[in-house]
Amino acid sequence: HATSKIKNKKILITAGGTKERIDPVRYITNDSSGKMGYALAKAAALAGAQVYLISTNASRVVPHGVKAQYVQSALEMQQAVKKIFATVDVVIMAAAVSDYRPEKKWSKKIKKGTANDLTDLKLVKNPDILASLGEEKQHQYLVGFAAETNDLETYANQKLTRKHADMIIANDVSKQELGFNSDFNAVTVLTHSSKPIRLPVAAKSQLATKIIDLIAQHIS
Ligand code: PMT
Repeated sequence: HATSKIKNKKILITAGGTKERIDPVRYITNDSSGKMGYALAKAAALAGAQVYLISTNASRVVPHGVKAQYVQSALEMQQAVKKIFATVDVVIMAAAVSDYRPEKKWSKKIKKGTANDLTDLKLVKNPDILASLGEEKQHQYLVGFAAETNDLETYANQKLTRKHADMIIANDVSKQELGFNSDFNAVTVLTHSSKPIRLPVAAKSQLATKIIDLIAQHIS
């Protein structure tokens, strides 16, 4: 059975939305709950993998046997990922990494109507963690997600190529009842070697098992 190929493999999974601090009480984030990443961590651990979870959400229950580390920002996530990247066999970037962060982090709460008024908040681009892993990768099998509201497969295919990923799990996030923060999802799995595989609406736990099985089929 293909899933046995996952046994004892080291899998790094990221989960949740990053928090980009503005000041001690404010940040920029997104609706990712971490559910998809945690479901994948559980499925991979059940298949016998050694799972390292890098999560932005410390309130979720860590699946049995999974090692978890918590981070907030994209920069912290990138640092944590890079630290163990060389030692892992598979990386699954399920986290919703903020593409932008405030140019400056204020140490005191910003006051309305002062010179630092937030109406002038300036953002800078965060690094693309998946793309940078794509450039550095050696033996690692790289899995990214693509969250799209339109032209799902076109954009997801572009991410597969541009980020040098081996697999992209594309989810349509235009529907409120699926994707971000839902217990359900529907995904299309894209690789370089096979036709798109469409996995219709199901619980994230069920999709996670199927995704881990597909990864197992592709790794040597
Ligand atoms: O957490 P849940 O509530 O369960 O919701 C799950 C989910 C919808 C968040 C998840 O299934 C998902 O789609 N995660 C990726 C969200 C996202 O950031 O998509 P993207 O299309 O912007 O990014 C593409 C890929 O590049 C992703 O693997 C992402 O982790 C990665 N990325 C993006 C930006 C960035 N600066 N660095 C990255 O590594």
